[in-house]
Amino acid sequence: MKSMIVYASHHHGNTEKLVKGLAEKYDIDLIDAEKATEINYDEYDIIGFASGVDFGKFYAPVTDFAEKLPAEKNIYAIYTCGQDNAKYGGQIQEISQKSNCKFLGKYGCKGYDTYGPWKIIGGINKVHPNQDDIDKACAFYENILKTAENK
Ligand SMILES: Cc1cc2nc3c(=O)[nH]c(=O)nc-3n(C[C@H](O)[C@H](O)[C@H](O)COP(=O)(O)O)c2cc1C
Repeated sequence: MKSMIVYASHHHGNTEKLVKGLAEKYDIDLIDAEKATEINYDEYDIIGFASGVDFGKFYAPVTDFAEKLPAEKNIYAIYTCGQDNAKYGGQIQEISQKSNCKFLGKYGCKGYDTYGPWKIIGGINKVHPNQDDIDKACAFYENILKTAENK
């Protein structure tokens, strides 16, 4: 099954670190949504959308590309954030279901955050994502692969 992650990561490269960790281990094509002008989803079976969280939402270039999904794809979401919230990634679930795709799950972890007041104290989550976060993302992805293959 051919696999791709469409991502954006402009705050500290946290999300990029996570998806690059995945792509080192698995056969996944990475597409930077902030650089790409078009995405051809045709040959891909499993598509992840990954982003830092910006006021509760994924970065617009990522959700804009998600809005262009054809039907019947296997979709998942990955994010890094300052403080986790169960709602993060729900946007990708909604968009993919609207496009008649199968939403297979989401994975999020902490990422270095220097927004607003955090900057004064040198930021929070300085060491994240770390190897443990990447390992957990890999375990999550293994499950995504298994679920997609069994469908
Ligand atoms: C403008 C701005 C808004 C943010 N909003 C949120 C937020 O609503 N919730 C949260 O948990 N983290 C928030 N963060 C923290 C980022 O989501 C976090 O640092 C993330 O890892 C950045 O990912 P990136 O380096 O891949 O861009 C915000 C950061 C910035 C700069």
